[in-house]
Amino acid sequence: MADLPTDPTGSEGEDRRDFIYYATAGAGAVALGAGTWPLIDAMNPSADVLSLATIDVDLSGVEVGQRITVKWKGRPVFIWRRPAEAIAEARATPLEDLVDPVDYVKENPNHGRDMPALDENRTADAAGEWLVVIGICTHLGCVPQGQDGAAVGNWGGWFCSCHGSHYDVSGRIRKGPAPRNLEIPPYSLTNEFLRIG
Ligand code: FES
Repeated sequence: MADLPTDPTGSEGEDRRDFIYYATAGAGAVALGAGTWPLIDAMNPSADVLSLATIDVDLSGVEVGQRITVKWKGRPVFIWRRPAEAIAEARATPLEDLVDPVDYVKENPNHGRDMPALDENRTADAAGEWLVVIGICTHLGCVPQGQDGAAVGNWGGWFCSCHGSHYDVSGRIRKGPAPRNLEIPPYSLTNEFLRIG
Protein backbone atom coordinates (compact mmCIF):
# COMPACT_ATOMS: atom_id res chain seq x y z
CA MET A 1 0.00 0.00 0.00
CA ALA A 2 1.33 3.41 -0.93
CA ASP A 3 2.59 5.69 1.79
CA LEU A 4 0.48 8.60 2.83
CA PRO A 5 1.65 12.06 1.90
CA THR A 6 3.65 13.52 4.74
CA ASP A 7 1.55 16.64 4.75
CA PRO A 8 -1.70 16.14 2.91
CA THR A 9 -2.89 19.61 3.88
CA GLY A 10 0.36 21.32 2.94
CA SER A 11 1.04 23.60 0.04
CA GLU A 12 1.37 20.80 -2.44
CA GLY A 13 -2.03 19.58 -1.41
CA GLU A 14 -3.41 23.06 -1.87
CA ASP A 15 -2.12 23.18 -5.42
CA ARG A 16 -3.65 19.89 -6.24
CA ARG A 17 -6.88 20.77 -4.58
CA ASP A 18 -7.20 23.60 -7.09
CA PHE A 19 -7.68 21.01 -9.74
CA ILE A 20 -10.05 18.82 -7.85
CA TYR A 21 -13.66 19.65 -8.18
CA TYR A 22 -16.53 18.18 -6.37
CA ALA A 23 -20.01 17.17 -7.34
CA THR A 24 -22.00 16.73 -4.17
CA ALA A 25 -25.54 15.72 -3.51
CA GLY A 26 -26.33 19.19 -2.24
CA ALA A 27 -27.80 22.19 -3.97
CA GLY A 28 -25.50 24.09 -6.23
CA ALA A 29 -23.42 21.05 -6.89
CA VAL A 30 -21.34 20.68 -9.97
CA ALA A 31 -23.18 17.98 -11.82
CA LEU A 32 -21.70 16.16 -14.74
CA GLY A 33 -24.46 15.49 -17.17
CA ALA A 34 -24.56 13.64 -20.41
CA GLY A 35 -21.94 14.50 -22.94
CA THR A 36 -18.78 12.87 -23.99
CA TRP A 37 -15.83 13.32 -21.74
CA PRO A 38 -13.53 14.77 -24.45
CA LEU A 39 -16.02 17.60 -24.91
CA ILE A 40 -16.08 18.41 -21.21
CA ASP A 41 -12.37 17.84 -21.03
CA ALA A 42 -11.80 20.70 -23.45
CA MET A 43 -12.84 23.07 -20.67
CA ASN A 44 -10.29 21.71 -18.28
CA PRO A 45 -7.20 23.66 -17.33
CA SER A 46 -3.90 22.55 -18.76
CA ALA A 47 -1.94 19.64 -20.00
CA ASP A 48 0.33 19.51 -16.98
CA VAL A 49 -2.69 19.22 -14.72
CA LEU A 50 -4.23 16.56 -16.84
CA SER A 51 -1.09 14.54 -16.70
CA LEU A 52 -1.01 14.24 -12.91
CA ALA A 53 -0.46 10.57 -12.40
CA THR A 54 -1.30 10.59 -8.71
CA ILE A 55 -3.75 12.61 -6.70
CA ASP A 56 -4.50 12.55 -3.00
CA VAL A 57 -8.04 13.07 -1.85
CA ASP A 58 -8.95 13.93 1.72
CA LEU A 59 -12.20 12.09 2.35
CA SER A 60 -12.63 13.20 5.95
CA GLY A 61 -15.35 15.71 5.04
CA VAL A 62 -17.39 13.33 2.91
CA GLU A 63 -20.59 12.30 4.62
CA VAL A 64 -22.33 8.96 4.37
CA GLY A 65 -24.39 8.96 1.21
CA GLN A 66 -22.41 11.76 -0.42
CA ARG A 67 -20.91 11.43 -3.85
CA ILE A 68 -18.00 13.52 -5.01
CA THR A 69 -16.12 13.72 -8.27
CA VAL A 70 -12.41 14.27 -8.63
CA LYS A 71 -10.32 14.44 -11.72
CA TRP A 72 -7.49 12.03 -12.33
CA LYS A 73 -5.39 11.96 -15.49
CA GLY A 74 -8.02 14.10 -17.16
CA ARG A 75 -10.84 11.75 -16.34
CA PRO A 76 -13.67 12.04 -13.83
CA VAL A 77 -13.50 9.66 -10.91
CA PHE A 78 -16.68 9.09 -8.98
CA ILE A 79 -16.31 8.55 -5.25
CA TRP A 80 -19.36 7.49 -3.27
CA ARG A 81 -19.51 6.98 0.45
CA ARG A 82 -22.30 4.49 0.24
CA PRO A 83 -25.03 4.15 2.82
CA ALA A 84 -25.70 0.78 4.43
CA GLU A 85 -28.66 0.04 2.17
CA ALA A 86 -26.54 0.44 -0.97
CA ILE A 87 -23.80 -1.76 0.44
CA ALA A 88 -26.29 -4.47 1.34
CA GLU A 89 -27.91 -4.32 -2.08
CA ALA A 90 -24.58 -4.43 -3.89
CA ARG A 91 -23.33 -7.37 -1.88
CA ALA A 92 -26.54 -9.34 -2.26
CA THR A 93 -26.35 -9.28 -6.05
CA PRO A 94 -25.36 -12.68 -7.44
CA LEU A 95 -22.87 -12.87 -10.26
CA GLU A 96 -25.47 -14.61 -12.41
CA ASP A 97 -27.47 -11.39 -12.51
CA LEU A 98 -24.62 -9.40 -13.99
CA VAL A 99 -24.10 -8.51 -17.63
CA ASP A 100 -20.34 -8.35 -17.04
CA PRO A 101 -19.41 -10.77 -14.27
CA VAL A 102 -15.63 -10.46 -14.58
CA ASP A 103 -13.47 -7.42 -13.98
CA TYR A 104 -10.29 -7.89 -15.91
CA VAL A 105 -7.12 -6.63 -14.33
CA LYS A 106 -6.93 -3.70 -16.71
CA GLU A 107 -10.41 -2.68 -15.55
CA ASN A 108 -9.62 -3.04 -11.85
CA PRO A 109 -5.87 -3.22 -11.28
CA ASN A 110 -6.09 -3.30 -7.51
CA HIS A 111 -5.97 -7.09 -7.18
CA GLY A 112 -3.29 -7.79 -9.75
CA ARG A 113 -5.47 -10.35 -11.51
CA ASP A 114 -8.88 -10.84 -13.06
CA MET A 115 -11.60 -10.97 -10.43
CA PRO A 116 -15.30 -11.78 -10.24
CA ALA A 117 -17.24 -8.53 -10.31
CA LEU A 118 -18.47 -9.05 -6.79
CA ASP A 119 -18.96 -5.88 -4.83
CA GLU A 120 -16.39 -7.07 -2.31
CA ASN A 121 -13.79 -6.93 -5.08
CA ARG A 122 -14.81 -3.51 -6.29
CA THR A 123 -14.73 -1.38 -3.15
CA ALA A 124 -11.80 0.47 -1.68
CA ASP A 125 -12.41 -0.79 1.85
CA ALA A 126 -13.43 -4.17 3.16
CA ALA A 127 -16.67 -2.89 4.65
CA GLY A 128 -17.72 -1.55 1.27
CA GLU A 129 -18.40 2.01 2.27
CA TRP A 130 -16.13 3.56 -0.35
CA LEU A 131 -16.79 2.94 -4.02
CA VAL A 132 -14.37 4.60 -6.44
CA VAL A 133 -14.98 4.23 -10.17
CA ILE A 134 -13.97 6.02 -13.33
CA GLY A 135 -16.96 8.04 -14.45
CA ILE A 136 -16.88 7.22 -18.13
CA CYS A 137 -19.52 5.02 -19.70
CA THR A 138 -18.04 1.90 -21.19
CA HIS A 139 -20.22 2.18 -24.27
CA LEU A 140 -19.04 5.30 -26.09
CA GLY A 141 -17.51 7.42 -23.39
CA CYS A 142 -20.26 9.68 -22.06
CA VAL A 143 -20.17 10.76 -18.44
CA PRO A 144 -23.03 8.99 -16.65
CA GLN A 145 -25.43 10.93 -14.47
CA GLY A 146 -26.08 10.24 -10.82
CA GLN A 147 -23.39 12.11 -8.94
CA ASP A 148 -25.95 14.68 -7.89
CA GLY A 149 -28.10 11.93 -6.39
CA ALA A 150 -30.68 12.19 -9.17
CA ALA A 151 -30.98 10.23 -12.41
CA VAL A 152 -29.27 7.25 -10.85
CA GLY A 153 -30.99 4.78 -13.18
CA ASN A 154 -33.01 1.70 -12.39
CA TRP A 155 -30.31 0.11 -10.24
CA GLY A 156 -29.45 3.09 -8.09
CA GLY A 157 -25.94 3.77 -9.30
CA TRP A 158 -25.58 5.85 -12.45
CA PHE A 159 -27.49 6.36 -15.66
CA CYS A 160 -25.92 7.18 -18.99
CA SER A 161 -28.52 9.09 -20.92
CA CYS A 162 -26.56 9.04 -24.17
CA HIS A 163 -27.95 5.64 -25.07
CA GLY A 164 -29.64 4.41 -21.89
CA SER A 165 -27.15 2.39 -19.86
CA HIS A 166 -27.94 1.67 -16.24
CA TYR A 167 -25.21 0.99 -13.68
CA ASP A 168 -25.90 -0.44 -10.26
CA VAL A 169 -24.75 0.61 -6.79
CA SER A 170 -21.43 -1.06 -7.46
CA GLY A 171 -20.95 0.61 -10.84
CA ARG A 172 -21.75 -2.58 -12.72
CA ILE A 173 -23.63 -2.45 -15.99
CA ARG A 174 -27.11 -3.92 -15.61
CA LYS A 175 -29.02 -2.74 -18.67
CA GLY A 176 -28.32 -0.90 -21.90
CA PRO A 177 -25.68 -1.00 -24.59
CA ALA A 178 -22.63 -0.53 -22.36
CA PRO A 179 -20.70 -3.81 -22.44
CA ARG A 180 -18.55 -3.45 -19.34
CA ASN A 181 -18.74 -2.35 -15.72
CA LEU A 182 -17.40 1.06 -14.83
CA GLU A 183 -13.66 0.75 -14.48
CA ILE A 184 -11.85 1.20 -11.20
CA PRO A 185 -8.63 3.21 -10.96
CA PRO A 186 -5.58 2.01 -9.06
CA TYR A 187 -5.75 3.38 -5.55
CA SER A 188 -4.92 2.96 -1.90
CA LEU A 189 -7.10 4.01 1.00
CA THR A 190 -5.61 4.65 4.41
CA ASN A 191 -7.91 5.96 7.06
CA GLU A 192 -9.64 8.74 5.15
CA PHE A 193 -6.95 9.56 2.64
CA LEU A 194 -7.39 8.17 -0.82
CA ARG A 195 -4.47 8.09 -3.20
CA ILE A 196 -5.45 7.50 -6.82
CA GLY A 197 -2.73 6.49 -9.23
S1 FES B 1 -22.14 6.23 -24.11
FE1 FES B 1 -23.24 5.55 -22.38
S2 FES B 1 -24.87 4.42 -23.19
FE2 FES B 1 -23.75 5.04 -24.93
